[in-house]
Amino acid sequence: MPTVLITGCDSGIGREFAAQYAQAGWTVWATYLDLRRAIEDDRMHHAALDVTDFPQFDALRRETQGAPIDLLISNAGIGLDAGQLGALDYAYLGRMWSVNLVGALKLVDTFVDQVAASQQRRIVLISSRMGSTGSNLSGGHYGYRASKAGLNAIGRSLALDLFRQGITVAMLHPGWVSTAGGSTQAPLSAAQSVASMRTLVARLGNHETGVFLGPDGQPLPW
Ligand SMILES: NC(=O)c1ccc[n+]([C@@H]2O[C@H](COP(=O)([O-])OP(=O)(O)OC[C@H]3O[C@@H](n4cnc5c(N)ncnc54)[C@H](OP(=O)(O)O)[C@@H]3O)[C@@H](O)[C@H]2O)c1
Repeated sequence: MPTVLITGCDSGIGREFAAQYAQAGWTVWATYLDLRRAIEDDRMHHAALDVTDFPQFDALRRETQGAPIDLLISNAGIGLDAGQLGALDYAYLGRMWSVNLVGALKLVDTFVDQVAASQQRRIVLISSRMGSTGSNLSGGHYGYRASKAGLNAIGRSLALDLFRQGITVAMLHPGWVSTAGGSTQAPLSAAQSVASMRTLVARLGNHETGVFLGPDGQPLPW
């Protein structure tokens, strides 16, 4: 069975990814900002990973013992707002970039060899339509928008750099999902969003590497 490693499984979309892949029989490495929130499921491997804490990446790499990782999912993220012009919280803005952007790059940098050694060789970066510059018609959200636009830029470079190794990279917008990071008003449940994204990921071919897709599989403007 294939192996998936997911960040930010403490709640929301990450937790749902872990649950659904475990249910489908995959070997799951679920990582948590706070390991005390680990899912009660003995089939999974559970590990602590704060994506801003680089020594924890090294520890997790040792723990996985070089095992092939078919699917690496960068999901951990924080948002939405660092405030309005004139009252921006720059410390929070910097934290957002550390988690959403630098943390995602460090994840890939740490595990890319293990992805390359796997059968499926897929990397998914959980982005957001808020990171689409072309469809930004409402302004604001400086920190979050920039973090996801930057993540998309990183994803495109990874796609080009890793193509020859047969690795497929995709940036996925999960939709507007009812989670702590989304809103209770959101139309999609985490279960629905993750089911759609799993279907998309399963279909992704290497020739499609570098795509930025919505949950319905439609390409989003950069
Ligand atoms: N929900 C939506 O509508 C929506 C739309 C577009 C994109 N997204 C993206 O989807 C991803 C998942 O979000 P979600 O909606 O499931 O929200 P969520 O429930 O808040 O999930 C994000 C998880 O990441 C964890 N996290 C925060 N900082 C971390 C760190 N330094 N290291 C590791 N984990 C960390 C959070 O822990 P804490 O709970 O302790 O903060 C939380 O468990 C995010 O990248 C988000 O930007 C969501």
